Amino acid sequence: MSNPIFDRTDQLLAEIKSASISTLEELEAFRIKYLGSKNVIKPLFAEMRNVPNEDKKEFGQRMNALKVAAEEMFNSHKQSFDQAASKASFDQLDLTAPPASRNKGSRHPVSLVMNRIIHIFEKIGFAVEEEREIEDDWHNFTAMNTPEDHPARDMQDTFYLKNSVTNLLRTHTSSVQARVMTKTKPPIRIIAPGRVYRNETISARSHCQFHQVEGLYVDKNVSFADMKQTLLYFAREMYGADTRIRLRPSYFPFTEPSAEMDVYWGLESEADYRITKGTGWLEILGCGMVDPNVLKNCGIDPEEYTGFAFGMGIERQAMLQYKIEDIRLLFENDVRFLRQFNSAY
Ligand code: DAH
Repeated sequence: MSNPIFDRTDQLLAEIKSASISTLEELEAFRIKYLGSKNVIKPLFAEMRNVPNEDKKEFGQRMNALKVAAEEMFNSHKQSFDQAASKASFDQLDLTAPPASRNKGSRHPVSLVMNRIIHIFEKIGFAVEEEREIEDDWHNFTAMNTPEDHPARDMQDTFYLKNSVTNLLRTHTSSVQARVMTKTKPPIRIIAPGRVYRNETISARSHCQFHQVEGLYVDKNVSFADMKQTLLYFAREMYGADTRIRLRPSYFPFTEPSAEMDVYWGLESEADYRITKGTGWLEILGCGMVDPNVLKNCGIDPEEYTGFAFGMGIERQAMLQYKIEDIRLLFENDVRFLRQFNSAY
């Protein structure tokens, strides 16, 4: 004969399975009644000790079935309520509403100018070479014909890595010349854009980090005239078709002869007087014929090959182009400043 306590579990199971739940309130009432901390199934557990041993197993299974049935009932109703709610909120979506405006980024003025310069040289066959910012003193100085006692090597001017006398943050992109010439045979025609570092006091006019673009052309019979035409082409692409340039004799350890190139900026405004120091001319870059020692240091025969090189700073050109008066603005990354720049590059 079956134990009368089983009638109680049968009855509860039937109750659970036939519960009518059509509102969220009913669902909550169901949860409290069958799954809450004071649910109606719990008191039955106390009956366990009155159930004869041979029925204990079945009783346990029935109790468990009650709990599972209550959970299933609750979960399936909850799921359909949730689905209905999300469908309702989807139905309320106005698919014709205009989207919120997207916050478009803008390129950094240094990137804009750098990309323009890269583009100008790419058009005449210069390939872009990117190299490391942490250099050794051989590539940065020695290979570039800079004497051991040259002041640029001084800790005052160069950031050396901690506990190192050979590793440093490159002070110019000229180090890329040595990197390229030691691994490639001429003809070489590259530009190397990138960041450089110098131990300078930060002010409106100078910073301890800035960007340069280096250029290098090595082949048979490369002449000073080739260099001048290349740089004239660059100046006209960059500053306008009737830009005039002049080359002034100068000195760099890695070029012989060396020159600095000015572009004629004009003297129309008071600002023109100020930035050209009353001359109308603006210095844009350093250049020259690659010193035979540099070629030799990098394993290129100076009897067979010649080359020209040039290097220019980016920040000053960006400041000229966008009339930025303080170099520090370029490194603070204040979005109110950066947002003002937009261009195809
Ligand atoms: N490295 C020089 C500097 O940082 C710039 C420079 C001058 C690069 C003459 C050159 C060059 O390649 O030929 O001031």
